[in-house]
Amino acid sequence: MDYRTILVEVGTVSTCTINRPDKLNALNGDVLRELLDFNQGLRANRDVRALILTGAGEKAFIAGADIAFMSGLDVRGAREFAEMGHRVCDSFGALPFPVIAAVNGFALGGGTEVALSCDFIYASKKAKFGQPEVKLGVIPGFGGTQRLARRVGLGNAKEIIFLGDQIGAEQAYCMGLVNAVCEPEELLPRVRKVLESIAARGPLAVAQAKRAIDRGYDLSLDVANEIERALFAGLFATNDQKEGMAAFVAKREAKFENR
Ligand code: COA
Repeated sequence: MDYRTILVEVGTVSTCTINRPDKLNALNGDVLRELLDFNQGLRANRDVRALILTGAGEKAFIAGADIAFMSGLDVRGAREFAEMGHRVCDSFGALPFPVIAAVNGFALGGGTEVALSCDFIYASKKAKFGQPEVKLGVIPGFGGTQRLARRVGLGNAKEIIFLGDQIGAEQAYCMGLVNAVCEPEELLPRVRKVLESIAARGPLAVAQAKRAIDRGYDLSLDVANEIERALFAGLFATNDQKEGMAAFVAKREAKFENR
């Protein structure tokens, strides 16, 4: 598929850039469809170890769902749009490798929601987060009421969503919404460096760690720990486990094959 609204580079560390800078990378149906298609292809590519998600231009990561597009929707259309947004957000979680949202500017509404669906967020000092939907007479529709509360706690999530105001990168960092705040020019190099380090670890191990954390998060500790035990044990059927431990014993670097 040729993409019109996203720029993609596929490699060990892949990059996807939302590319509607004139509309501050707002998410319309085209962007959502292209993101979903791209993520589905990436999921099947065994050479990919990590993904950076960012926004084109100086100003925005994603300034939200496209308000002009949403303004004409009826109830059924809104439901379909929300379902598409949820599918896109879920598709980042389904990738068997880490995804970092490199938030380079405005991440409002759907922008915060998409960032929250990545494994973690690094932000430029210029980044602004927020869920301004109540200012438009609606609520977050791409998982914000759920993922934000899980990330920053109920009180912080309710304050952000009820007020609808923007919060800066430092405040987002203090709440645990973002993992690190960087100078704007350092953002992408820093995210790439982190992902290159993760890409050198055992890829199956990283994939199963992501799965254990995400699957277990909403379950009781007992059930979640059983998921962990099963995934831990299953890794002992892989070449990478044998290689990782043999390399340690032989005091050499492990060469993981994703097998
Ligand atoms: N949907 C559709 N278009 C959007 C958009 C969105 N969420 N956010 C920005 N744009 C468009 C603007 O309409 C404008 O287009 P135009 O040049 O054709 O008029 C362009 O992007 C630039 O935005 P502008 O508002 O002029 O930039 P700004 O620097 O003055 O303000 C924001 C930046 C982010 C504060 C402002 O654009 C904004 O509030 N956007 C909406 C944020 C929002 O509510 N998101 C949640 C939606 S549920």
